Amino acid sequence: MSLATRGMKVGILTAGGDCPGINAAIRGVGKTAIIEYGMKVIGISSGFRGLIEKEYIELDETQLSGMLTLGGTILGTSRDKPFKNDPVTGENMSKIIKKNYKEIGLDALVVIGGNGTQKTAAKLAAEGLNIIGLPKTIDNDVYGTDVTFGFDTAVSIATEAIDRLHSTANSHKRIMVIELMGHNAGWLTLYSGVAGGGDVILIPEIPYDMDIVARYLEKRSKNKKPYSIVVVAEGIAKPKGTSAASFVAQSIKEKTGLETRETILGYVQRGGSPTPMDRILATRYGAHAVELIAEGKFGLMVCKDGETITSVPLDQVGGKLKLVPPDHSIVKKSRKMGICFGDKKI
Ligand code: F6P
Repeated sequence: MSLATRGMKVGILTAGGDCPGINAAIRGVGKTAIIEYGMKVIGISSGFRGLIEKEYIELDETQLSGMLTLGGTILGTSRDKPFKNDPVTGENMSKIIKKNYKEIGLDALVVIGGNGTQKTAAKLAAEGLNIIGLPKTIDNDVYGTDVTFGFDTAVSIATEAIDRLHSTANSHKRIMVIELMGHNAGWLTLYSGVAGGGDVILIPEIPYDMDIVARYLEKRSKNKKPYSIVVVAEGIAKPKGTSAASFVAQSIKEKTGLETRETILGYVQRGGSPTPMDRILATRYGAHAVELIAEGKFGLMVCKDGETITSVPLDQVGGKLKLVPPDHSIVKKSRKMGICFGDKKI
């Protein structure tokens, strides 16, 4: 155990939407900090809200046991954005956060979150706090990393749901439309769509035409394909006030007359125990965050680059989104197998 790091106080908070693997990351940070470096670990409640209201507890090794497999976050989360003025007091909460960071006596703060959270983390780092970001989200859209934890689990859950639609679709000879999460990015829809054998995959990054989708489904039906699976991301272009699934299902019914049903998978995608891959990724991210802190390196987001766990400067990732390139190799290969992305006649 290094003497230089002994007694250092490392805060940890989780902000934004939850996802599977957060607790594995908290455990990775906590155990590495305590066992390897003799640091103290301060768990901050409900995202940045806990720093504003000074709600925190010291986490010891015992409290970090038994949480590897748990979904959600033991710390709680919130979508508070400290750099926006408080609607009631008009105050900029980042000042309070900086004051409380000092009063609690933190030497570093690990911030687990998605895009919005990494943007806040970058701003706090620019203002002099010792911040390390950890990227998490089922959407896999955090810029600067190959992958976020939570994604693998969500792909698994969504794929299982699509698998289950096949048998009921086949029994009734129907078109099944399933909507998956992803407001901006189609990673989850693309991966689960391909893994689940979707026939049509619609993602926000590839503009689609419902006439093309309808003609494609009609052709399948005429070619004695008894049913079709249409996987859509919630964030595809659609009229206001309707879900992606309802809009697409309704359009298919109107344009083809084929019997069509819709499913919105919703928050199930974010819940429950992480897959082994997410447990490993989150653990590696957590441990690496502490290694950086021990080396006195801050203002960084832990990331995966190929097989390497490394880091990128927070100011290079904050505020940016990692979207599916429309010419991504999975898209290209899928097209060659006849999958319709709604943009080209097949
Ligand atoms: O976690 C990411 C995400 O699931 C998005 O796909 C979704 O649009 C969003 O969070 C919704 O979350 P909430 O209702 O918690 O704001």
